[in-house]
Amino acid sequence: TFVVTDNCIRCKHTDCVEVCPVDCFHEGPNFLVIDPDECIDCALCEPECPVDAIFAEEDLPEKQIHFMDLNAELAQAWPVITVKKDPLPDHETWDGVPDKLQYLER
Ligand code: SF4
Ligand code: F3S
Repeated sequence: TFVVTDNCIRCKHTDCVEVCPVDCFHEGPNFLVIDPDECIDCALCEPECPVDAIFAEEDLPEKQIHFMDLNAELAQAWPVITVKKDPLPDHETWDGVPDKLQYLER
């Protein structure tokens, strides 16, 4: 399974959603998640993210491991997104800012 992590929050470029063959991205107000029950590990999405927010489960940095559970949880609550849209307006300001989880909107 692939996992969306901290750096997507407040950026949400959405390039990732266009390449997913099984439509397993789900969209919240300022973050996307991958449904681990649907992901087929094709790895197509990982290089598409301009801010490197997507990791294979086994490559997750220690500090991002909790995003596995968060992706699974929010995928149940949020609708599927399959078409790219504009990134959030302040994405440049937020790229690379650490610990953005505190800004997650549900
Ligand atoms: Fe979709 Fe493939 Fe990415 Fe899984 S690894 S979320 S199936 S694009
Ligand atoms: Fe987020 Fe990157 Fe996709 S910022 S929406 S994981 S392209």
